[in-house]
Amino acid sequence: MKQRILVTGGTGFIGSHTTVELQAAGYDVVIVDNLSNSKADVVDGIEQISGIRPAFENVDCCNLEALEAVFQKYPGIKGIIHFAASKAVGESVEKPLMYYENNIVSLINILKLMPKYDVKGIIFSSSCTVYGQPDPENLPVTEEAPIKVAESPYGNTKQINEEIVQDFVKSGAPISAILLRYFNPIGSHPSSIIGEMPNGVPANLIPYITQTAIGVREQLSVFGDDYDTPDGTCIRDFIYVVDLAMAHVAAMARILDGKNSDPVEIFNVGTGTGVSVMELINTFEKCTGVKLNYKIAPRRAGDIEKVWGNVDKANKVLGWKAVHTLEEALSSAWNWQKKLRERGIM
Ligand code: WQD
Repeated sequence: MKQRILVTGGTGFIGSHTTVELQAAGYDVVIVDNLSNSKADVVDGIEQISGIRPAFENVDCCNLEALEAVFQKYPGIKGIIHFAASKAVGESVEKPLMYYENNIVSLINILKLMPKYDVKGIIFSSSCTVYGQPDPENLPVTEEAPIKVAESPYGNTKQINEEIVQDFVKSGAPISAILLRYFNPIGSHPSSIIGEMPNGVPANLIPYITQTAIGVREQLSVFGDDYDTPDGTCIRDFIYVVDLAMAHVAAMARILDGKNSDPVEIFNVGTGTGVSVMELINTFEKCTGVKLNYKIAPRRAGDIEKVWGNVDKANKVLGWKAVHTLEEALSSAWNWQKKLRERGIM
């Protein structure tokens, strides 16, 4: 009998790639998504890749009654991966109440229902944003690094939600949790059937690069080249989204197999390598053969100068490691962009 997993935000960028890998690992996946930042046809794409159509319910996790109906319709949910959240740093500064309400109420509703429906574990989608700008001596950043004052309401919701999970478990809730702190997820599924599909003008670097390369955008602005880094541009830990999806499969198995040593565990999920914006642009040009039109522009408010992860704990304890190269991730993003053009979407 397959173990049933609920994936909230499962038609989103990371959620859809994780659903594919959960199905490949033999789980029965139920997707809940309110389609506020994704499209229902992603379910078709998941089925096309895996051959298995996941159940899909168009439900907002902030609606407790509608969410509970999903637990009743699909009995025996053993684990939950909670992606559903708003995630644009800049937008969160403009609409803080929407971010606090959406990102926090959705998690609280999930946690309220878990004991009632005997759900064993939750994997929570957190972010390296909680570290803020690590002190230079703390790079690469480990899970023990101090949590800094959040740079945005988005980042603050990640910090608050981590605390909510920990406090709920400490109160004696009969659940286990793994908090995964992502670095920068990039790329698209190697099949180019699903991929990153931001609404409107992309805030993130990779979709802006591929849209510039294909001509949807005129020119990429590199936000600052006067940082205290080797080439002056910001440094990040860019992780291929399929590697990130596999980290969720490893984390879910760890909980369902009862291998977690503490009721709440925290793991950095990155490559462990820092790459600058200019290095990434050069790598993109080299692996795609496309010359990118870009200019150096002023710094973007709120940007962290340099952050990349120490991923030893995930490697050793979770038994997970990123296995794809930056070139493979960027090539997959470019192939996805070309596919969108072929399909007349962008
Ligand atoms: C990366 C670098 C920019 C766009 C955020 C969130 C994180 C996660 C990913 C959700 C920065 C530079 C970008 C552009 C540029 N969010 N850049 N020109 O800000 O590191 O992380 O998104 O999952 O939690 O904090 O990602 O891709 O926006 O920026 O020069 O047009 O690229 O300045 O240095 P970021 P990003």
